[in-house]
Amino acid sequence: MEAARQAAMRSNVSRDAEIRRRREDQQKLAGGAMYQQSQYGGQSQYSRQTHAQQANQAQQNQRRRKKKKFKINIGAIIFVLLIGTVIGVSVNQIAKNNENIVDDDNKLEFENDLPGDTISGNETTDQESESEDTDEPDLILHDTIYVENSTMDEGNLILVNYQYEYKKVDQVELKNAYENKTGKLKVSSTSLAMTPEAFDALEAMVIDLEEDTGCDDLLLNSAYRNAASQQYIYNDYVNKYGEDYAESYVADPGFSEHHTGLACDLTFYTDDGKIVPITDHEFGSWLGVNCIQSGFVRRYPQDKVDITKIAYEAWHFRYVGIPHAYAIFEMDYCLEEYITWIKDYTFDGNILHVKKSGALDDVSMSALPVEDGWLIYYVPADEGDNTEILIPRGEKYSDYEISGNNVDGFIVTITLD
Ligand code: DAL
Ligand code: ZN
Repeated sequence: MEAARQAAMRSNVSRDAEIRRRREDQQKLAGGAMYQQSQYGGQSQYSRQTHAQQANQAQQNQRRRKKKKFKINIGAIIFVLLIGTVIGVSVNQIAKNNENIVDDDNKLEFENDLPGDTISGNETTDQESESEDTDEPDLILHDTIYVENSTMDEGNLILVNYQYEYKKVDQVELKNAYENKTGKLKVSSTSLAMTPEAFDALEAMVIDLEEDTGCDDLLLNSAYRNAASQQYIYNDYVNKYGEDYAESYVADPGFSEHHTGLACDLTFYTDDGKIVPITDHEFGSWLGVNCIQSGFVRRYPQDKVDITKIAYEAWHFRYVGIPHAYAIFEMDYCLEEYITWIKDYTFDGNILHVKKSGALDDVSMSALPVEDGWLIYYVPADEGDNTEILIPRGEKYSDYEISGNNVDGFIVTITLD
């Protein structure tokens, strides 16, 4: 019985506790709501509010919520309107752009219909402008070849002078002038010889001279010399004219371009057996100008003595190849100046375009193809044993020659026709 009473008491205690707990929960719920409402000016102490006050407050709050909701809606509407405006403007702009694209397309089609206007021309323009926009380098298709740096002293453009020795004096491939002459060139000695290319060019010059002037008196007076020959001439000049004079006209052995087989001394030999120097012959000036058409230049001009360190030699001609002779003549350079100047022309930058007319032009590889003629550019020697040389790819550029400059690199000459 006692246990039942205690159980009942526990049950009452539990019930009372449960009632208390629920009441407190209700109050807390009401307090939470009031706390939220208090933000709008309501009393924060819910416990002091009467039900009437709470009801009144609730109505006010409801109105405020509606008002806020309304405010929110206005904001949302403004926001939506703004977004709508932005989207509208964007769509309009896109539409306008599309119109422009359509216009451009039409224009392109129209232009391409014009006689002489080609799609490839427009494509080139597009590529150029695209490249300008993106700052990306133009891609140039090329082949890569390697040359041994030990060949830097080989080729038609080697510079041999008081500074740059020629070390392959005994390795030059020679063509004997007396034995191989086919035209009317006169030869002063049976031993005279030049490189095959230079000799053939000299014969071409003889033909040009006769065709232009009727003169067939050109005499080859000196050509390839080995070191011993050069030493003999030098000593002879010293003995006859003194050292200063000898230095002015005769290069030190090893430093004469007569060692290369690319140089020759010319004079006139008349039918009545007289030797007439270039400067005294009526067609001497013809030689000075027209030698370039067969690839020769006058190597020691009167106004370049300060550079060459050799006195004016009207008779000394040097083979460099036709485009280089044109360029040297056009620029009024001596070979020293040309070898320096040509370094400005590189595969990645401007290249020299020598036209068949002899006129010069600067072009870039990305602007190829150009009209016929020659393309010329310099390649500095790489460190080590070999130098990498880039050649534009394609049949049009397949006829190329590489010459060392005997200084610091190589010169590429591409024949376009
Ligand atoms: N006469 C020229 C300079 C030479 O001896 O090579
Ligand atoms: Zn000479």
